[in-house]
Amino acid sequence: MHPPGIDVLCVMVNKRDFLSVTDLSPAETRQIIQRARQMKAQGWGQPLAGKNIALLFEKPSLRTRVSFQVGIQQLGGYSIYLGQQEVGLGVREPVYDIAKVLSGYVDCIIARVFSHQHLAELARYASVPVINALSDLEHPCQIMADLLTIAEHKETLEGLKLAFIGDGNNVSRSLCLAATAVGMSFAIASPAGYNLDEASVKAARQRSTSKSVQVLSLSDPATAVQGADVVYTDTWTSMGQEAEAEVRRRDFRGYTVDATLMSKANPDALFMHDMPVHYGEEVPPGMLDHPQSVAFAQAHNRLHAQRAVLEFFLGQ
Ligand code: NVA
Repeated sequence: MHPPGIDVLCVMVNKRDFLSVTDLSPAETRQIIQRARQMKAQGWGQPLAGKNIALLFEKPSLRTRVSFQVGIQQLGGYSIYLGQQEVGLGVREPVYDIAKVLSGYVDCIIARVFSHQHLAELARYASVPVINALSDLEHPCQIMADLLTIAEHKETLEGLKLAFIGDGNNVSRSLCLAATAVGMSFAIASPAGYNLDEASVKAARQRSTSKSVQVLSLSDPATAVQGADVVYTDTWTSMGQEAEAEVRRRDFRGYTVDATLMSKANPDALFMHDMPVHYGEEVPPGMLDHPQSVAFAQAHNRLHAQRAVLEFFLGQ
């Protein structure tokens, strides 16, 4: 038996959080994708047996919530969902108190938050791993499913080019940082004022594992999709930005990904969207059923990728 306090100390020293795609090395990113494919094909064990996981969600969720709850159950764990009413991060209770209290009940906190700063604070004070289920800055679990989907359809990630059309937001930031780390080139086309921040573009260039990886921040969608193996888009108005929706609809005009834009990419390019979709804005109605769309497979892969993420961060 350890003296009181030692176990807690060990957990704190050993715990790893998944707040950003950059919390994984390129090799670990590849390893998780590979493991996700293996579990999908051959099944999985019970690495979460006896583990309880809190899902702390400040924003609505369909894919993330359901895929995490199902995945946790499949791996032998138990999940507790806490919505905005119960949580009130920093409003009903200070983040510090929530982190300390939950750490005594559960083995992991999966959080969807408005402010990435709150998430970082939660991770700093929690003695259990914290997983980002979407913040204003990043959406790392989505990106693990995206890379899994691309790997399944293209067999390799290295040497491919992904074009993102739209906002320099949480999804495009995580995609840029993760795709370049596994050897993919990344081009984003955004209207003026909505570009991906320079620091992320620079970080992605530094993280890239091969000299042939390019990271481009452009304004013209047709230029961005030239030579692309994957064309990806996301909503123009993210959760929490609803007050800007009208202005954004105007500013993003011309950035719709439709069959015409797809025809300017490589002939076998995949169309991807993380959903939810705003039909008539970033895509026309029916775009998810375009012959090149893998958007529904991508959504289903949230479950498959997250099983491997959970096993990696909690199953040891
Ligand atoms: N950028 C979107 C992603 C939704 C999964 C948002 O933050 O609302």
